[in-house]
Amino acid sequence: MPADSFREDVIEGLSQPQKCLPPKYFYDAAGSRLFDRICRLPEYYPTRAELALTRRHLADIARFAVRGCELIEYGSGESLKTRLLLKALRPSVYVPVDISSTALAGAARRLSAEFAWLHIFAVVGDFSQPLRLPVFRQRAGRRRVVYFPGSTIGNLAVQEAQAFLSMSRAQVGAGGAMLIGVDVKKDANALHAAYNDARGVTARFNLNLLARINRELGADFDLRRFRHYAFYNAPLGRVEMHLVSLARQAVRIGRHRFEFERGETIHTENSHKYAVDEFRALAGEAGFRGVRLWQDRQGLFSLHGLAAE
Ligand code: AVJ
Repeated sequence: MPADSFREDVIEGLSQPQKCLPPKYFYDAAGSRLFDRICRLPEYYPTRAELALTRRHLADIARFAVRGCELIEYGSGESLKTRLLLKALRPSVYVPVDISSTALAGAARRLSAEFAWLHIFAVVGDFSQPLRLPVFRQRAGRRRVVYFPGSTIGNLAVQEAQAFLSMSRAQVGAGGAMLIGVDVKKDANALHAAYNDARGVTARFNLNLLARINRELGADFDLRRFRHYAFYNAPLGRVEMHLVSLARQAVRIGRHRFEFERGETIHTENSHKYAVDEFRALAGEAGFRGVRLWQDRQGLFSLHGLAAE
């Protein structure tokens, strides 16, 4: 990702009436480490719930995706659930797509060491933008499957999520499929706890975005004068993360100057939650039929098996 688009995106986001920053920039080295810690927090259920589902239903999931398929994953492929899936599926080709070329290179190196038989075709790309299709030819009769775990789709607005699903539908073609992890709408208190952990790791993750802007763009955000704020916006079905300015202040990024009222926020992330039927309807609009559903007993998280219509 060129530094220039980071700079442009930050300037543009902070120039809006509701200041905002794109959540994809959370994941520099420090942010990725903090995110790994979030995934191990007792309050943050999605990672554990999805891993448990993947473990418990692995054989069934592999039957759905079909052994020897062409597997495209949005994400660098470092996670334990990906390794389980690779082992069970033995894909003929594995295509991890990630915005970070360094993350991709590291993941590809480690995966090749672990799975000597695996044919990896890494693609640097941003799933929130229309993606150039990876330039590999689909072999006749091979099922192409898009794997999109982690409820990362929650970062997209509902319209964008539908556009992403449509793009994936075009990518897998007739007879193709999608395997997607989606966080489920639930009690506001449980959601609140998951994004306001007692150890303050999520707060540090959120604030690291300002630290990154300071480090990489030479800005002068005073991190003590911003506070993490996350809440469940029930009418919109999403958790929102913000950074609240604790004082009236101005921040400089090069020749740009941004003023903050006391209490004004920077909106840093949306994390949409979908009821099972709601998500199936969305996938249906994109040309997928929900044919399999893996869920835990408490209904915390959902793993959808979608078939291209
Ligand atoms: C990686 C986007 C799925 O929305 O739950 C975790 C990111 N933000 N805690 C999520 C996140 C705050 C996470 N996703």
